[in-house]
Amino acid sequence: MQGDLRIVGDVAAAFCDVVADAWESRTGDLFTIALSGGDTARRCYEALARHADTPVDWSEVRVVWGDERCVPLDHEDSNHRLAQEALLRSVGPVAEIHPMRCDVADAYDRLVAGIDLDVVHLGLGPDAHTASLFPGSPALDAPAGRFVVPNEDPLGNNPLPRLTFTTAAIAAARTVVVTVEGASKREALDRVRAGEDVPAARIDRPGVVWLTDPAAAGS
Ligand code: 6PG
Repeated sequence: MQGDLRIVGDVAAAFCDVVADAWESRTGDLFTIALSGGDTARRCYEALARHADTPVDWSEVRVVWGDERCVPLDHEDSNHRLAQEALLRSVGPVAEIHPMRCDVADAYDRLVAGIDLDVVHLGLGPDAHTASLFPGSPALDAPAGRFVVPNEDPLGNNPLPRLTFTTAAIAAARTVVVTVEGASKREALDRVRAGEDVPAARIDRPGVVWLTDPAAAGS
């Protein structure tokens, strides 16, 4: 398991600190963050929106998504809608927001390949998926140089066709932060820590920050 595993009492608060640290060490004109989906991400984004003393100036932030379900952007299962509700409608003007739409996968791939990713936020599924990289799914073996591809869960545990970052996109980020909460994630996290070849173990770059609570860490 690459990176730094931090067992924390408040994963969302720790997530805000990681984002703040990445902001303080930004190098480009725009600070680019790739958002995730799921309930843990929602809690993290709500905390970020409340984080009154955050140094982040959202008018200098470019928002992209690390994965998205192939549904309308206002659909209840949309990660775009999740981010709008939990964060983006609360932080004032944002420099750029790039919704991830399945009908423009190649254009999104070119967008992501052409920008510097400051932060990629990822979750961990109970099947040890991350983003929409599911066990046994084709996206795990995406063509070299692809940063965004369509994908689906061949085992049917995760609904809807998706677009997802590839492992190459994740590896290109300056900071990768994975947020993991709850006893339901303990087995998946144990499998990553044991070095099993599960999708989340493909988050293969130095400097990955794993933020987990005691329940998921088994401590
Ligand atoms: C998605 C997410 C997915 C999520 C994990 C964890 O679009 O479903 O990107 O990878 O981050 O499944 O989700 P929970 O925090 O809800 O368990």
